[in-house]
Amino acid sequence: MPKTTPVTFASPTKPAGWTWEATNQEVAARYGLPIEQVVRFDQNTAPAPPGAVRELLVGGEFEVALSEYPPSDYGRLIAAAAARYGVAHEDLLVGAGADEVLDLVAKTFIPHGGAAVVPIPTYPMYGILTDQRGARVIRVPRLGLADGYALDTEAVRSGVRSVEGGANVVWLCNPNNPTGTFEPAGRIEALLAALRTDAAADGRLAPIVLLDEAYIEFAGDSHHVLRAAYPRLIVARTMSKAYAIAGLRVGFAIATPELIGEISTYRPPGSVSIVSVEVAAALLPDDDLVRSRVADVIAERARFAAGLTGAGWTVQPSATNFLLVSFDSPETADTVAESLLQRGLIPRTFPSGHPLDHCIRLTVRSRAQDDRLIQAAREIAA
Ligand SMILES: Cc1ncc(COP(=O)(O)O)c(C=O)c1O
Repeated sequence: MPKTTPVTFASPTKPAGWTWEATNQEVAARYGLPIEQVVRFDQNTAPAPPGAVRELLVGGEFEVALSEYPPSDYGRLIAAAAARYGVAHEDLLVGAGADEVLDLVAKTFIPHGGAAVVPIPTYPMYGILTDQRGARVIRVPRLGLADGYALDTEAVRSGVRSVEGGANVVWLCNPNNPTGTFEPAGRIEALLAALRTDAAADGRLAPIVLLDEAYIEFAGDSHHVLRAAYPRLIVARTMSKAYAIAGLRVGFAIATPELIGEISTYRPPGSVSIVSVEVAAALLPDDDLVRSRVADVIAERARFAAGLTGAGWTVQPSATNFLLVSFDSPETADTVAESLLQRGLIPRTFPSGHPLDHCIRLTVRSRAQDDRLIQAAREIAA
């Protein structure tokens, strides 16, 4: 694209924004259901926080000075995260969930009039944040279902090169939401090596690569070690999924101290509450917590998938705490979603024209909650 191409928001009047499924209250009111019967299968959250959280909050194992702001350096939390992730304190930045980390990365590295590459389908925030910066979203397709929706290395490379000076950021997600898939071994390494080679050949800086590992605990090893070979890599982590504290909003960026320093400029003074800081710092050192939660989710995921398959639904393989279920058409997916809502079960849906508009996404929740969904699937299929 020539430099002079004007950059506009996706809509001429308004930047792109997040769209939510209905709230519990809305679903209860719309279908005349008791609110306690409504279950969220749309947000990839856990059915309950770890038991230790209740002890901490109710038992008062720590004293939370609610009248004060959190410590400006989030020192205790950073120390606990550094030990957990095996990184230096200087390689970490705390955010209000991974979402704030993504927002700060966009603010820091995507200038107005810039560009970022988004391999789709993926987490919508990457395109939204890029659009909100007044930058161009370069959407490149992932490979198809038969190839596990893996990254198409060549498509990403040419996406980066499609703008003069190269795209500023490449947004990656592994395991990927909403496909639930983990990249084949070596794919991310190969992509980073190719991006570095291309940048050297073009005589420009390599793009920032934001690798969102929100679901990594369910899938395998983090790729954060690759920042040694590709210093412009930033990895986003969260305590919302495997640690089951989405409501507390705790996430991290892992990157070189230089990049962390750059991002820190945009960090608000105290976006993570003092309660969140204390609980997160207390959970991180627990070696067994994630291991046992992940094992439970993986076992329940297999049972849930088998139940849905038994009801005649097509469930894609998953390396996460959610399942992608595909139907024969977008219309069938819409009908199924509506039938689930009538029962107080909220699925994640995809808008018309989305590559997965014939699918719904379902969080793996508790056995009892998943059984309600399996039963609904049987009734809907009948
Ligand atoms: C890929 C991905 N990244 C980030 C987030 C947001 O995580 P957090 O709760 O840490 O903001 C989500 C939440 O669903 C997600 O799926």
